[in-house]
Amino acid sequence: MSNASAPAIGDAAVLADLERVVLWPGHCGHGQAAWPFAAQVLRRARRVAVIADPRVWPLASPALQRAADRAGCRIAAVYDGVRPNPSLDEVRAAAAAIRADRCDALVAIGGGSAIDTAKVAYATVFGGQADPADLLAPGNAWMAGAPQADDPLFLAVPTTAGTGSESSTAALVKDERGRKLMFRSARSRPGAVVLAPELTLGLPRAATAAGGFDALLHAMGALVNDCDAPVGAALAAESLVRALHAYPRVLATPDDADARAAMLMASYLAGVAIGMKRVDAVHGLCTPLEGRVDMAHAEVLAAIFDPIADHTARKAAASYARAARRCGLAGPDEDDAQAAGRLLDAIRRMRALGGLPDRLPPLALTRDDALALADQALLSPSTRLNPRALDRDDIAGLYLDIAARSQAAPSTVILPAP
Ligand SMILES: [Fe+2]
Repeated sequence: MSNASAPAIGDAAVLADLERVVLWPGHCGHGQAAWPFAAQVLRRARRVAVIADPRVWPLASPALQRAADRAGCRIAAVYDGVRPNPSLDEVRAAAAAIRADRCDALVAIGGGSAIDTAKVAYATVFGGQADPADLLAPGNAWMAGAPQADDPLFLAVPTTAGTGSESSTAALVKDERGRKLMFRSARSRPGAVVLAPELTLGLPRAATAAGGFDALLHAMGALVNDCDAPVGAALAAESLVRALHAYPRVLATPDDADARAAMLMASYLAGVAIGMKRVDAVHGLCTPLEGRVDMAHAEVLAAIFDPIADHTARKAAASYARAARRCGLAGPDEDDAQAAGRLLDAIRRMRALGGLPDRLPPLALTRDDALALADQALLSPSTRLNPRALDRDDIAGLYLDIAARSQAAPSTVILPAP
């Protein structure tokens, strides 16, 4: 019996209802299956375009070429001009490369910048848009749609562990004025992922620390927030447990491929979780600030974590406490405040291990500045899903607190637990 009122797969309102739609990601090959899996999925392709970070492309190209040879397809175009914090112009150049060579599949290799550029280029070309900016038009049907079986292959090979961009639905790209634009679509999420730890072995310590800390806060934010999406919560908890173990290992023994593989998996799982559940106010308040300070995403997250998490814990300790117990950080007999403190302290220990800042460099904000930032932060679903509800005045107050802390003398460094 047909039901004329039933929403179709791909209906924007349905996909936006995170709590009631389980948006599974595509398939993922890891460990010894990583490159054989790449060869298998590439059998769908004839002419492959690659969008890559220029630093890792020389390292990754032999393995990808072998996989393409086994699959019987050809690498027809390579765009390796992606830089950190990519712009719309880089997306346009990448999209032009895909179009010029009439490619029917896309491979993204690199960190969040390369994968985000590829996501938006994929949507532009295969979504039939003239320009990437057109994807942001309200009600863009392609962006709101669900993945279709005959969508062109999109394979991502993350090399930073990480932003989780390979498994999340979001991409951040700057416009001509330097503002960060959020492109969100389940359809431009890579349909296949290869986790190849050997490509992350040479990652510098600072990038390892920053990427890993971002993944930790994705996992924690998705686990504690108010979105009641049980599959996303389970994946966030698994990711957080793995990341808390893997992060110290990749920092202590960066040449250990097993540690790198563990961090890649934690980051991947966190990306899936945030695609299902979003994050919390630490991320929600971070994005507006990133346009004001010259710091990497993870550094801003680290610097604003304390005031936001402490403010949240004062009224919503139970959310943090549940997460702490679920991850084995707190015992069942500890009260909520104590258990919440264990989770926050674990994150602070990771921050100290990674050498990340606990405050911003001196930042001057007026109350009007703070209110303007609050208006931007409220646009993020992650802000609205914070375990403690935050209104405009609360958020402006947090920004002013963050600015006040940035002017104060450095605090005592919290030493990692032995
Ligand atoms: Fe992030």
